[in-house]
Amino acid sequence: MKIYDRYSDKEMADFGLKGTLPQHVGIIMDGNGRWATKRLMPRPVGHRAGMEALHVIVRESHRLGIKALSVYAFSTENWKRPMQEINALFSLLTEYFEKEIDELNANKVKIIVLGDLSPMPEKVKNAMNKAMERTKDNDGLRFCIALNYGGRSEILRAVKNVSASGVDPEKIDEKLISDNLYTAGLPELDLVIRTAGEQRLSNFMLWQAAYAEFVFTNVLWPDFDPEEYRRCLIEFMKRTRRFGKVVE
Ligand code: FPP
Repeated sequence: MKIYDRYSDKEMADFGLKGTLPQHVGIIMDGNGRWATKRLMPRPVGHRAGMEALHVIVRESHRLGIKALSVYAFSTENWKRPMQEINALFSLLTEYFEKEIDELNANKVKIIVLGDLSPMPEKVKNAMNKAMERTKDNDGLRFCIALNYGGRSEILRAVKNVSASGVDPEKIDEKLISDNLYTAGLPELDLVIRTAGEQRLSNFMLWQAAYAEFVFTNVLWPDFDPEEYRRCLIEFMKRTRRFGKVVE
């Protein structure tokens, strides 16, 4: 079976797959540090290898026709890491977007930042703002980078926006909250993948993950490749999604 082709209807049936590919995939890219430590290398080496894995997975998501891919790149809690590691992460982010922007744009990928860029260094802000501006009219894969992101603070921000708009509390519904999240207008999160063996959400897309399926893999993020991605997608497609209903 070819790994790099889209799944045919027959392949889907052969695998006993119930569903279709997810529209929106979230990835908690964990294990860069462990990957480097295992090789007696400094943690930023693991982040660089993680950046390379991300490049491949974005390409694969585009190729598969996935509508939205959201990745957890830097959480509000990650500020607690040593400054040297934070700076290395920020340099990689800048490098990634400066290097990748032409290919992403040519593939009609639209870059969206989830999170508060304001406390980020100027070079990161500039790279991200440029990438968003240049790809804002693209209609291909929505590539969302959660940066200085926390799920609870995202919900809090939405509630504050709604409250400041002066809307009648009786008129506040789930759609209004959704429309005030960073992900406004994106499809629901269908699948959350977490690498490196941990089985928790760590404040990632709490609202959006309400009905998501979870797939955990022991593979460390730098080793996550299209084959492992495909395994996760197949696992998702085997699930029966009930959304609270009874399904025969
Ligand atoms: C978790 O591994 C990963 C991160 C905190 C950052 C993710 C960053 C990248 C994939 C690289 C650069 C990103 C972009 C968008 C270019 P960890 O350090 O927590 O690993 P550990 O749990 O093994 O210590």
